[in-house]
Amino acid sequence: MRAGVIGWPIDHSLSPRLHGYWLDQYGIDGTYEPIAIAPEDLDARMASLSGEGFRGVNVTVPHKETVMASLDQIDDLARRIGAVNTIVFDESGKSSGTNTDGYGFIQNILQSQPDMDFKSGPAVVLGAGGAARAICVALMDAGVPEIRLLNRTLERAQGLASDISGPITIVDWSKRNRALGEANLVVNTTTLGMVGKPALELDLSDLADTACVTDIVYAPLETPLLKAAALRGNPVVGGIGMLLHQARPGFEAWFGHAPEVTLELRAHVLAGVGGKE
Ligand code: ATR
Repeated sequence: MRAGVIGWPIDHSLSPRLHGYWLDQYGIDGTYEPIAIAPEDLDARMASLSGEGFRGVNVTVPHKETVMASLDQIDDLARRIGAVNTIVFDESGKSSGTNTDGYGFIQNILQSQPDMDFKSGPAVVLGAGGAARAICVALMDAGVPEIRLLNRTLERAQGLASDISGPITIVDWSKRNRALGEANLVVNTTTLGMVGKPALELDLSDLADTACVTDIVYAPLETPLLKAAALRGNPVVGGIGMLLHQARPGFEAWFGHAPEVTLELRAHVLAGVGGKE
C-alpha cells in the first residue's frame, strides 16, 4: 500500500514522518512518500499515481487549489474552502478530494479543551490566507455565532467572506485589540510570531480570561501570542496539533486504521523540526 504527499518543493514536509510513525506503530505494510511534482507536471502525474499503486495523497503548497482541476470528484467541504489537502483513489483509479484542515483545527482544540463550546460566543480570526479559509468554514460548521475576521489587507478578508458566505463581520486590522471583547476564541492564522517573522502585536486586555487562544504557527511551539495569553490565565492551544489531526482521515482512508494523536507522536514529529517539548 502506497500513499504520500505531493508538493513543490516537498523536502520540508513533516507528513512522511507523521504517517511513517503510524505505519510503524500499527504494523502496517505500507509506505508514505514525499512526491515532488512541479506545477507544470501536476495534471499528468495525478493521472499516473493510482497506476503506480498509490491509494491516495496529501496535497501541500503550491498544489492545494490547482489540483482541483485534475480530480474526478471534490466534496462540498473542499469546494467551500476552495482547496483540497487529501485525495483518495478508488479501485478503478477515480480520484476524490476533500479538505481536512478545518477538521484538524477543531479536533486539536477539542483534544486539549474538551469543554470548548464553539456556539457560546464570537471567534476572532486573524489572517485571511488559505488556512483562514479552512478555519472559518470549520468554525461556521461548529456553530460559531459570529466570526470577526481581520486581515492586514482588507480586500483579502472581503474576498474570503464573500466566497464562504456566513456570519462573518470584517473588522479593520487596526481595530484588532477592540475586536477581542466578548470573544470566546481567538485564532492567529497569520505568519506573525513564526521563527524569523515579527511577533503579532495584540493587546489582550479586552479579552475575557476564559477565552481560548490558538495559533496555527508551531515554530516556535509557544508563540509570543500564546505566551502572553497563558500568562494572563487564558486556555491556549498550540498549532502542531492541527497538523497532526488533519492527517487522521487520510491515513484511515488509505490504510484502514483510525490513527491516534498521542504525546509520543507529537514528540516524534517535533524531533523532525528540531523542536523540543
Ligand atoms: P496561507 O495561504 O498559507 O494561510 P498566506 O497567504 O501567506 O498563507 O497568508 C499569510 C497571512 O499572514 C495573511 O493573512 C497575511 O496578510 P495579507 O493578506 O495582508 O498578506 C498575514 N501576514 C503576513 N505578514 C503579515 C504582517 N507583517 N502583518 C500582518 N499580517 C501579515
